[in-house]
Amino acid sequence: MIDSELFIVRAFIFLTVCCFTLFVGAQVTHPSEVGALKVIRSRLTDPKKNLDSWNEGDPCVKKWKGVLCPNTTSSDGYLHVRELQLLNMNLSGSLAPELGKLSQLQILDFMWNQIGGSIPKEIGDIKTLRLLLLNGNQLSGSLPEELGYLPNLTRIQIDENQISGPLPMSFANLNKTKHFHMNNNSISGQIPPELSRLPSLLHFLLDNNNLSGYLPPGFSQLPNLLIMQVDNNNFSGTTIPATYGSMKKLLKLSLRNCGLLGTIPDFSGIPELGYLDLSGNQLDGPIPTKKLSLNITTIDFSNNKLNGSIPETFSGLPFLQKLSLANNSLTGSVPSAIWENATLTRNQSLILDFGGNSLTNISRVVSPPANVTIVLQGNPLCLNPNQQNITQFCGASAGEQPSGTSVNATTICGCPVQDGYEINTKDPRQCYCAAPIRVGYRLKSPGIWDFVPYREAFEKYMTAGLTFEIHQLTIESFVWEEGPRLGMYLKFFPGNGSMFNSSEILHLRSAFAEWLIPDSDIFGPYEFLNFTLREPYDDGIFTTSKSGTSKGALAGIIIGTFAGAFILCAIVSIIIVRRRYTGLNAASRKRQTSRIRMKIDGVKSFTFSEMALATNTFSDSSQVGVGGYGKVYKGILANGSVVAIKRAEEGSLQGSKEFFTEIEMLSRLHHRNLVSLVGYCDEQDEQMLVYEFMPNGTLRDHLSGKGKDAPSFSMRLRIALGSARGILYLHTEADPPIFHRDIKATNILLDSKFVAKVADFGLSRLAPVPENSGVVPGHVSTVVKGTPGYLDPEYFLTHKLTDKSDVYSLGVVFLELLTGMHPISHGKNIVREVNVANQSGMMFSVIDKRMGPYPPECVEKFMALALRCCEDETDSRPSMAEVVRELDNIWAITPADDVVPTAAAKRTPRQTTSASSSLVHSTLYTSTDVSGSDLLSGVVPNIAPR
Ligand SMILES: *[C@@H]1O[C@H](CO)[C@@H](O)[C@H](O)[C@H]1NC(C)=O
Ligand SMILES: *[C@@H]1O[C@H](CO)[C@@H](O)[C@H](O)[C@H]1NC(C)=O
Ligand SMILES: *[C@@H]1O[C@H](CO)[C@@H](O)[C@H](O)[C@H]1NC(C)=O
Ligand SMILES: *[C@@H]1O[C@H](CO)[C@@H](O)[C@H](O)[C@H]1NC(C)=O
Ligand SMILES: *[C@@H]1O[C@H](CO)[C@@H](O)[C@H](O)[C@H]1NC(C)=O
Repeated sequence: MIDSELFIVRAFIFLTVCCFTLFVGAQVTHPSEVGALKVIRSRLTDPKKNLDSWNEGDPCVKKWKGVLCPNTTSSDGYLHVRELQLLNMNLSGSLAPELGKLSQLQILDFMWNQIGGSIPKEIGDIKTLRLLLLNGNQLSGSLPEELGYLPNLTRIQIDENQISGPLPMSFANLNKTKHFHMNNNSISGQIPPELSRLPSLLHFLLDNNNLSGYLPPGFSQLPNLLIMQVDNNNFSGTTIPATYGSMKKLLKLSLRNCGLLGTIPDFSGIPELGYLDLSGNQLDGPIPTKKLSLNITTIDFSNNKLNGSIPETFSGLPFLQKLSLANNSLTGSVPSAIWENATLTRNQSLILDFGGNSLTNISRVVSPPANVTIVLQGNPLCLNPNQQNITQFCGASAGEQPSGTSVNATTICGCPVQDGYEINTKDPRQCYCAAPIRVGYRLKSPGIWDFVPYREAFEKYMTAGLTFEIHQLTIESFVWEEGPRLGMYLKFFPGNGSMFNSSEILHLRSAFAEWLIPDSDIFGPYEFLNFTLREPYDDGIFTTSKSGTSKGALAGIIIGTFAGAFILCAIVSIIIVRRRYTGLNAASRKRQTSRIRMKIDGVKSFTFSEMALATNTFSDSSQVGVGGYGKVYKGILANGSVVAIKRAEEGSLQGSKEFFTEIEMLSRLHHRNLVSLVGYCDEQDEQMLVYEFMPNGTLRDHLSGKGKDAPSFSMRLRIALGSARGILYLHTEADPPIFHRDIKATNILLDSKFVAKVADFGLSRLAPVPENSGVVPGHVSTVVKGTPGYLDPEYFLTHKLTDKSDVYSLGVVFLELLTGMHPISHGKNIVREVNVANQSGMMFSVIDKRMGPYPPECVEKFMALALRCCEDETDSRPSMAEVVRELDNIWAITPADDVVPTAAAKRTPRQTTSASSSLVHSTLYTSTDVSGSDLLSGVVPNIAPR
């Protein structure tokens, strides 16, 4: 690994020097631009050191990795920087005003970094600028008025930043701008009515800002407007301009949660309207009865104050996927004609949500076709569902976005056991191994509600835009995000041979990065999140350079042309940069700040084939368990080490980007009471986590008697102490702190020396964030994947998970250690049962009889601690640090097993105990021959142990 890294670095330096020589031989980058680049560089923080060598002040092509910049045909005899593309490079710092000196720049691309500060007004000096791409950073301050004086700007994307202040009126001059994306900022004030003069505007995305005032009626004059998405702003007290019903080209209008009043205008005159979302306003009056465009896929008028009846004209809409009129004041009957004659032309599913209205009957009772979901819950007609035979429609509410699932796990049919090659299942050449390129991609404002029926259409659209064969594209995964937007992870396979060649790679990348793929009417604007070249591309490209270690050979490769050199440099540069980053991102969330490295220190990246080999192709005999996220296998790696492989079920974990981020974090956690992560696999739609194997299984196994012998008290206490220390480490040493959220006896594993190790920490953070239209979910999932019986009761009240939630769950584990019971058995809850026994003075009646003799005062103290951990109120529970301290105290007065005359001592060899324990195990103990069963006499336990 290290050798090849070194080689790659050398190869890169060599190649770039060659490139440089070739360029400099002809022309020199303009000195003022060299100076400007130096300043621009100095303002950026580059943790991954990709820009390091650039400080020397040479022309950009030599120093800027990932940037294709000089234009060889400039008039003043100098090279000028034409493109600055630093996409997804983990940069922070700020943007220097010197950007304005790059006077012939056409593409300025800093997407998906963490750059802060404000946008320099000097960018307004770059008259040649076509693409201004600053989305996905942490830019703040207001939008400089000067940006409005960029006559060539076709695309301005500053979305997903922290921009505040108003929209400058000067933007009305952007008369070439087609794409105006400013969503997810804090822009305030009125939308300047002057913007309705923008002649080229196609996509206007300003959702999720703090805009106020009114919606400019003049927008109906925009001759080319296709998409207007302004949801989650505050136009309270104003109405939807009636003129919006006359936008001739409009495909999508989204005005969700805007505080709008008044009635719904007549949109029937918009010939190709596909998506209309007016939900979450205060619209009243009746629903217009004129029939909407036949192209409509999505109509959402829910959560308003609409009254009157549901028009019959919602029937016969062939592409309809969702009609939601929920939570209004609609009356009358449900027109069954909507689904009666529904022709689900694309096998689509149709959601009809009429819940939460005042509907009193149904015109005809006709059972809907498969794939039509009807919701009537919350209407008077559901008070007596049997009467009308509509019970099935009166259940829980529908309306959730259909969630994306990943597809077709590739079979292994004899690909070389080599990184990066896969079988393209769609390739007509069956079992043909090829190396794909991955692209992180997102539809920013799709015109559909459900992607599944449009999947094939999407594949056609995408491959046609790239002039690829349709089978060259696999949608590795897709996921709906809030917006709703659709994140995807695309995999492109070479058309000929098993790898893409250099110019194909360039073609593919620039097609995405420069929006050469035309936008589609149905799928709307897209964004480019990342471009991932994995092995074998790294090595393949550098093998070429290896053979060319002499100038002559290199010249042969470059064919002596600038174009050749340019392409070569470009590829080298791209690859160097890209190989450091990977992932998207099937589930990329609003903010894509964390970037992924392919190699994470301390953990190994495994290929799917290595995993398959280790587990005998995931054979049943290798399976050792099933967890909340999927199956667990015992595997033997090529080097002979034994591991536990958790293979996530499809959809149980987040997309690759989050996966890598979390793994990176987990890889930094090391504690003797935590199960260590050895590596991971993220390939072929598969996510796997590879852990050290714990030969003695779970604590639950031993309490349930699956282990040969029941553990002694001393051993149980040691397990309790180990687990508490592991969790304390997660709470205090991890950055950010990790709350386990799913502590239970099956997540406490025992190594060969019976040292307790906590498993599955951090996994809850990987769980997908629930799709909840309209609500912006936080960065970290707060879905409780916890297990009944272990869940903090206060969580149900507050919906907040704290460190004390883990204390509760661990308290339950302590009670299990003491009693051997399950947390819930025969409807009885362990906490309540033990409390009852304790309060009635019969504490010892519940102690696990399999434990053998035990020191009663230690048991008493341990029990008291366990019950304190399980207090209902968070504040009454001890902190994890106190738990550890108290267990230490109990441990200090607990006799070693060999002091207690018990069979357990024989079973658990003393040397094991002490060898693996760093604690001073006091032997001060005195009364040893009290056994649990002695205390039992006369007591009728009201709990069946287990
Ligand atoms: C260089 O820039 C000019 C003007 O912007 C442009 O017409 C020309 O195509 C560019 N040349 C190259 C090789 O990109
Ligand atoms: C855009 O603005 C420029 C200058 O303001 C003007 O010359 C040009 O004709 C305008 N283009 C369109 C399409 O309106
Ligand atoms: C609208 O529907 C017609 C007829 O099916 C189709 O030709 C046209 O492409 C559709 N337009 C859009 C934007 O989907
Ligand atoms: C549904 O189909 C029936 C029979 O084909 C027809 O009589 C009825 O008018 C249709 N309803 C609508 C709303 O198209
Ligand atoms: C229901 O819709 C799904 C996709 O949305 C499709 O795969 C399935 O074939 C449809 N079923 C029917 C009976 O139309």
